[in-house]
Amino acid sequence: MQQTLNIGLTSETRKIIADGLIKLLANTYTLYLKTHNFHWNVTGPMFQPLHSLFEQQYTDLWNAGDTLAERVRALGFYVPASYADFSKLTAIQEVVGTQHCKDQDMIKQLFQDQEIIIRLIRELIPNAEKAGDQVSVDLLSARMEVHETNAWMLRSFLE
Ligand SMILES: [Fe+2]
Repeated sequence: MQQTLNIGLTSETRKIIADGLIKLLANTYTLYLKTHNFHWNVTGPMFQPLHSLFEQQYTDLWNAGDTLAERVRALGFYVPASYADFSKLTAIQEVVGTQHCKDQDMIKQLFQDQEIIIRLIRELIPNAEKAGDQVSVDLLSARMEVHETNAWMLRSFLE
């Protein structure tokens, strides 16, 4: 039987924060897969640096998904975790099939996707702040920092 939580946050507040984290998880996981896709399929003279940069980014995204999901569990909720669930919750557009993108297009897409996640996190932080849920605030801020750094690195290839 599920135990009632008594951590100083109402269930309504915990639900709002958890729903936001679940949405962030779906976006993070979808971008993880897309970045791994591009790591595999990138071609051109920039192959080596892009192959490596994408690996660094998908590894971070993969690990972040675990942290986000476990925070949802700590807040007392279950985590929807299937491709069907994630595709309903994400704003990241996938590249489907063997449709091939040029390296510049990959960079541009990933840069814009990182920015989608930055804007989402910026929307979510005030809910956690208002509730005094410092752990979620810290987690969201740490994720924001990584996504802003990723966006900068990707953008730098386009300038
Ligand atoms: Fe690899």
